[in-house]
Amino acid sequence: MPRRKKIIAEKPKITSPKVKTPQVLRGMKDILPGEQKYWQFIRERAEKMARDYGFLRIDTPILEETSLFVRAVGKQTDIVEKEMFSFVDQGRDNISLRPEATASIARAYIGHGMFNLPQPVKFFYWGPMFRHERPQGGRLRQFHQFGFEVLGDGHPVIDAGLILVAYNFYKEIGLKTSIQINSIGCAACRPRYKEILTNYYRSHRSDLCDNCKKRLNKNPLRLLDCKEEDCQPLKAEAPQIVDWLCDDCKNHFVKVLEYLDELGIPYVLNPALVRGLDYYTKTVFEIWSAFVPQGGTSADKSSVSQIDEDKSPASEAQPLQSALGGGGRYDDLVELLGGRPTPACGFSPGVERSIIRIKEANIPVPELPAPDIFLAQLGEPAKRKCLLLYEELRKEGIKLAESFSKDGLKPQFEIANRLGVKYALILGQKELVDGTIIIRDMEAGIQEIVDFKKVVKEVKKRLEMNGNEKNEIGN
Ligand code: HAM
Repeated sequence: MPRRKKIIAEKPKITSPKVKTPQVLRGMKDILPGEQKYWQFIRERAEKMARDYGFLRIDTPILEETSLFVRAVGKQTDIVEKEMFSFVDQGRDNISLRPEATASIARAYIGHGMFNLPQPVKFFYWGPMFRHERPQGGRLRQFHQFGFEVLGDGHPVIDAGLILVAYNFYKEIGLKTSIQINSIGCAACRPRYKEILTNYYRSHRSDLCDNCKKRLNKNPLRLLDCKEEDCQPLKAEAPQIVDWLCDDCKNHFVKVLEYLDELGIPYVLNPALVRGLDYYTKTVFEIWSAFVPQGGTSADKSSVSQIDEDKSPASEAQPLQSALGGGGRYDDLVELLGGRPTPACGFSPGVERSIIRIKEANIPVPELPAPDIFLAQLGEPAKRKCLLLYEELRKEGIKLAESFSKDGLKPQFEIANRLGVKYALILGQKELVDGTIIIRDMEAGIQEIVDFKKVVKEVKKRLEMNGNEKNEIGN
């Protein structure tokens, strides 16, 4: 059989060879219209959680003084040491794009004298964060978080309440999760534990990976965070902080767990969970996905994992980086930033990571509302009349589309078909003279001429009928 010649379609030239098109920065993403339904889904569910549990929206600036994050997140953390987008602005101030929002919220709490409000104050936020990390699956340089923060109350029921919000949020979006929880003590008991831990690791120094050798001097708690295969046996045998908690921290932790038990929220006690930000005290927690894509080497599968693996279809996505969300108590942060002693607790989920998981688990997400009616026109006078008709219909709450810059019916119908509208309204010269307009059922291809003055009523009638029919089929 003669071999068929492969026809290679020439790519349309959309760029000029002389002008270099600027590229999106590494680790940053455009969120295109096709993606927006996922964003809307998460945002609506997150906002619902905020309403249901009485959190008030707060928005803080994206740029802050660099010193805010250095003091709050910690000088020796990866975030501050390596990942901040920091620069000196025109006024010679050292400023940074926020790598997270908790520090900003503590700053706002102090700055606006919110300790004068009835305590606790409960905040909800949503927005972009920036970390100069090595981009890979689920890890970006500009990513989005939303968060819930409760300032001004140290009761353990606050911690449990926040975990409940986190648990319910993921449940409502349909993701299976595993709540990992630990207590990392306070300024009274943690130093002693750090000493015990350092001594333990020091006696095994030669077995440690290079990174852990560095952590040993700088930030010993982070030794427990090491993902290197060779360090795992040592980590499994390491002294656990829960055995070194002071009475206050121990009682607090026990109470949090009791409330979770009462609420029927499953959790995994994870002695290796230390979190990567320095402001935490007492309770720390992370939400891990319990959906591990086949072949994934997700960081979620750590030594303590008791994850009930989902048997859903395989995913080709890259293994997801770490947690879907994280949080904990930060009782010393407000004071550290110059405010009065104010216990606080919060958590923030990452939006992109939730979206990745939603797609992997094939969770159906509602489509964004599509237009019902396309307004087609022929000729300049009809175009003018349609401009006004569009406004009239819009004010009646009818979802519309148009392409007023086009003249022929064919290109207008092409757009109407692409949008999948139910009806097109067609106004031409003849209809203008007759005082009528055509209503075309796009699916059936049937057209009806109606009195122009009654068009709003006629359109509404048809859309209502359409809605009822759908409901009947649905039932
Ligand atoms: P975090 O664990 O650093 O905590 O971040 C929370 C979540 O943000 C992560 O679990 C992850 O989903 C997402 N995330 C972090 N870095 C990236 C990245 N490079 N790319 C994509 N997603 C990322 C905090 O930020 C704390 N402020 C949480 C908190 C609130 N603690 C108390 N209140």
